[in-house]
Amino acid sequence: MGPKRNLPTARVGLDPADRPLGGGGMTSYGMAMVEFTLNGRAVAVDAPPEEMLLDVLRGPLGLMGARFGCGAGQCGACAVLLDGRSVAACRVEVGALGGKAVTTLEGLGTPQRPHPLQAAFLELQAGQCGYCLSGILVSAKALLDANPDPSRAEIADALDWHLCRCGVHNRVMDAVALAAKRLREGATA
Ligand code: FES
Ligand code: FES
Repeated sequence: MGPKRNLPTARVGLDPADRPLGGGGMTSYGMAMVEFTLNGRAVAVDAPPEEMLLDVLRGPLGLMGARFGCGAGQCGACAVLLDGRSVAACRVEVGALGGKAVTTLEGLGTPQRPHPLQAAFLELQAGQCGYCLSGILVSAKALLDANPDPSRAEIADALDWHLCRCGVHNRVMDAVALAAKRLREGATA
């Protein structure tokens, strides 16, 4: 385990009257105030620009949906949507987020109102340990937003970068296809 790091502070629910330096630019040595949209809400994060989005999400922002796996953009456990595209949050620097929209697993649905993807994964029990699933769900959402009727090959291609040690691939494919069908039929989160 590496040395303990000092995570940056963050303020969720931006108050326009409380923006250091007009809401942008450097705030103190090595730090920058970055404003972006997170799951539909404006947020401001005071952090070193080179801090990784995953650290900020799981640290000061308190969102544990995106998970740490490889830390190298290779496993997909940390996937989030950045302006609708599935990206590895462990490789996105906070300094690149200004004005962009980030969606995490928490932004898909709730236990009371799950996204059709989440409902289909539960119904088909498309998971074992579940560690990979939040990233897979986020990438599947990006796929279905862009392509409501994907072929099996297109689902496999969209999820190809996600590693799953438990081998739930077939059920994941079935769940994404089921959710796509329900979304086409009008299901909503
Ligand atoms: S933890 Fe980000 S891709 Fe593996
Ligand atoms: S369900 Fe365990 S890693 Fe995918």
